[in-house]
Amino acid sequence: MKKLHAQLKTFFSLIILLSLAMGLPCSLLAQHSPIGKTINPYVYVSQKEVITHHACVVSAHPLASEVGRWILQQGGNAVDAAIATQLALAVVYPAAGNIGGGGFMVIHLANGKNTVLDYREEAPGKATRDMFLDSLGNPDSRLSLYGALSAGIPGTVAGLWQAWKKYGHLPWRQLVQPAIDLAQQGFAITAMEARWLNESRQDFLTYNTQPVAFVKDTPWKAGDTLRQPELARTLMLIRDQGKKGFYTGRVAHQIVQTMQHHHGLITLQDLRQYRAIERQPLIFDYKGYTIVTVPPPSAGGIMLQQMLGMISFYPIDQWGYGSPQATQLMIEAERRSYADRAQYLGDPDFVKIPIAQLTSADYLQQRISSYTPGKATPSRATQAGDFTHESEETTHLCVLDESGNAVSATYTLNNLYGSKLIVEGAGFLLNDEMDDFSAKPGSPNLYGLTGSEANAIAPHKRMLSSMTPTIVLKNEKPYLITGTPGGSTIITSVFQTIVDILDFHLSPYEAVNNPKFHHQWLPDVVYVEKGFPDSLAKALESMGYRLAEREAIGRTELIVHPEGETITGVGDHRGDDAVAGY
Ligand code: DON
Repeated sequence: MKKLHAQLKTFFSLIILLSLAMGLPCSLLAQHSPIGKTINPYVYVSQKEVITHHACVVSAHPLASEVGRWILQQGGNAVDAAIATQLALAVVYPAAGNIGGGGFMVIHLANGKNTVLDYREEAPGKATRDMFLDSLGNPDSRLSLYGALSAGIPGTVAGLWQAWKKYGHLPWRQLVQPAIDLAQQGFAITAMEARWLNESRQDFLTYNTQPVAFVKDTPWKAGDTLRQPELARTLMLIRDQGKKGFYTGRVAHQIVQTMQHHHGLITLQDLRQYRAIERQPLIFDYKGYTIVTVPPPSAGGIMLQQMLGMISFYPIDQWGYGSPQATQLMIEAERRSYADRAQYLGDPDFVKIPIAQLTSADYLQQRISSYTPGKATPSRATQAGDFTHESEETTHLCVLDESGNAVSATYTLNNLYGSKLIVEGAGFLLNDEMDDFSAKPGSPNLYGLTGSEANAIAPHKRMLSSMTPTIVLKNEKPYLITGTPGGSTIITSVFQTIVDILDFHLSPYEAVNNPKFHHQWLPDVVYVEKGFPDSLAKALESMGYRLAEREAIGRTELIVHPEGETITGVGDHRGDDAVAGY
């Protein structure tokens, strides 16, 4: 009997060892996931503001924020939580959360280190400069926005894997398992998701030849369960093999096969060679705060530095929030910065960007000195791009953990559900990020942004982005963590959020939710959100500005933590965004 007992003990020990070596089978791992236990994927609420003491996660979906909090409570750090939250968003927020897209992660470690992971998509090796021009030489945005040709080589999985290898703490599989469970068991969709899925139904049918989880016979409604078994299988490969589970083997073949069926360009070689790049963040001072933000190939950091730099020469805090003077100055700073973007910015591994000149105090002072208080500076006359109809389908998340590590990450498929093309058999959407290149110098892209040679298409080049994940430090500790989706409006939203808090002393809730405005040089229009004060609009119009109303400007996530005080997390009321803290 004793011998049998000993043999059984050895047998079970071997099974456990084998399981550990293989990354643990699902049944065992299910115990290491909160889904269906502390997190109910069918009943949840969206907490818009949380004031707490220890740690906080803000993301575009309540379930993803809860996954992030659970990771922190399991002893994970901010990087672990950011990874798990992004993987959960790839399931519960498929319009923008992704494994088929790319993004940027700004990390501040409690030991003082600041770093950035660039997991932006790249043009495929076979991409060519004029690939989106029609026979008359005009950009054909159907090709750069829909289907296989619009997809850049995805970067998200490489980025998350590299972040974990270098800065993560918990086992990788524990970060992936909640996403697998959400995909496998399904979750109740929100009203917004139901509306988007219904609106995109025809696109899913047009751009896919195989059945997809996002299409069903009757319209989607809030509370319906969305199950994604193919995506769950893909995530299991990522759980068990890490980056290799995506860029080689079955998933890589599925991507390439989908490309072949739909005339796309991405090859096995493209996938194998893709690397996330760790970059030096852009760090600068603003009125005694240290801003840590993203460098090229996002335009966001340089432009944020330019805008904050330009306004710093004026007593904007005395003019006050919502005053015509302060608002005009901010608009003029935005205009000048977007004009520079169009000319100078692109992938720094391909073009030389004069960062030092563009951000020097002398240059910025001279640049803003051409503005006349009380009178709009005209941008050069041009046709407006198709810009106002755009929705906000990138996604941002902020994490602050108990030790003072902070992460600000923005990632995307580009617009709503990206290219609408789902990798056959693998259940995930591919991005349509190729549209962020300048298909033809001077021609506006989806966001009305024009570009120059600096952002022309070239094989393995990264398309210029507006994503601006940012961490503001005070006395070397995270004071404010923010970012947002919104295409070209991302940078102006982050700019306004920072100024609203640091200069105008608005509450975090107001800084996120008050109506925003946006100017991007071309078209020469100030976009304002519904609810923008009438008196301010009239004052701007009398200075010569043309105003146009648009639905939403961004969907800002924000954590504010003044030293020694409580932590406030705010999720934007414009979407399903939610905070989870403890
Ligand atoms: O990287 C960029 O700048 C864009 N692809 C971001 C897209 C976005 O924010 C979608 N929302 N409108």
